[in-house]
Amino acid sequence: TKAQGVGSAPVNIALSKYWGKRDAVLNLPQNGSVSISLPGLGSETQLKPAVAQDSVWLNDQQLDASAPFAKRLSEFLNLFRTAEVPFFEVVTQNSVPTAAGLASSASGYAALVLALDDLFDWQLPMTQLSLLARMGSGSASRSLYPGFAIWHAGQQGDGLDSFAEALDAPWPEFCVGLVEIDVAEKPVGSTAGMQQTTAACALYQAWPAQAERDKAVIIDAIRAQDFSRLGATAEHNALSMHATMIASWPPLLYWQAESVIAMQQVWTLRQQGVEVYFTMDAGPNLKLLFLAAQKKAVSAAFPGLKVIEPFSS
Ligand code: DP6
Repeated sequence: TKAQGVGSAPVNIALSKYWGKRDAVLNLPQNGSVSISLPGLGSETQLKPAVAQDSVWLNDQQLDASAPFAKRLSEFLNLFRTAEVPFFEVVTQNSVPTAAGLASSASGYAALVLALDDLFDWQLPMTQLSLLARMGSGSASRSLYPGFAIWHAGQQGDGLDSFAEALDAPWPEFCVGLVEIDVAEKPVGSTAGMQQTTAACALYQAWPAQAERDKAVIIDAIRAQDFSRLGATAEHNALSMHATMIASWPPLLYWQAESVIAMQQVWTLRQQGVEVYFTMDAGPNLKLLFLAAQKKAVSAAFPGLKVIEPFSS
């Protein structure tokens, strides 16, 4: 064991989403998913052995041990305690607003697993680290990789076949635009949201098969660099996922009025010949998908848009 372990990982945006678990303890998903990582946005973690208790620091602030976030982290760390390292000090810097639907838990658990690998000097392959990150937060399995990643749902009860892999297909023109509607903490986190949807939505029955089909189409579209197919499938996939949430009872609607206005703006732009699509996660913010040739037109329509080019850095 070293004196300190370090790790850093980017956030990722799912193009075909993970929504619903077949095992809530191991974070085993009902369906596979595919994502794009956003370089420059993510988490950097330093991990040290501690003596009396865990302590968690997020962006220079110590978290109360009873805060839900700190509790979930300590439960995850239970998997890794040893006689030599009974407790941990976790110091994380996040360059994304926490719990704003920008997947900070994904980059957080991925960075933590890399820091564990470093601290204990396991030298595990990425797929094994992805499996461990998945146990912290499902979408974290995909944040171990830059670029596109595929999370295989797997079939086994022990989850050993449920991990993500890189889809190595650089696409230099690919752009993601972040439309921030509201960065406040979301009222219902994804874990609880999935629970609510799978328990109380008849429409959800149709979701896992559609998500698997969409995942396959998007992987093909990435390999063929067929942007229209990718964008249309990703937008439809996101709206289908949100439809299952809305059709739960009680209903779960992450959108705000401004989210809908932004969606309509995207559709107007498309009618005007600007090829741009959106995707949305468990929050009100939109993520726009477009190619570099449309960057000017999209930025003009969305002032203040934060544009990330995953393959150009
Ligand atoms: C809508 O990975 O945050 O962003 O496994 O319970 O931590 P837990 O859920 P999480 O869910 C992400 C849901 C999503 C879609 C996606 O990223 O695939």
